[in-house]
Amino acid sequence: MTVLCRLDDLPDGGARGFEVPGLDCKVIVVRKGERVHGWRDFCPHYKGGTPMAWKRDAYLNGARTHIACHAHGAWFDIETGACVQGPCLGRRLIRVPLTIDAAGAVCMRPREERT
Ligand code: FES
Repeated sequence: MTVLCRLDDLPDGGARGFEVPGLDCKVIVVRKGERVHGWRDFCPHYKGGTPMAWKRDAYLNGARTHIACHAHGAWFDIETGACVQGPCLGRRLIRVPLTIDAAGAVCMRPREERT
């Protein structure tokens, strides 16, 4: 498994992006309570994807209710990745399955374990 950070490193309700060797984009991790949601930093508006933050780790809208692509204003549901507003309605982010181990490390599951 690839360790991204510790759960304690993420503010509740906040998001951070992580470089992962072998991936062509960052992995966005959003914390909600004791749960985390992982998504590729790859907006589906444009073929080939686009990074979504306008500055480091700025992945959420102002109210921190949705993941936001700051290029053209798309909003995505944090739990499902579905676009709920903006130019890519009907498309969704690509999930990165995460787990939190017994020591509190946030880890990407190996490809063969992903669903
Ligand atoms: S590239 Fe994300 S909304 Fe246009």
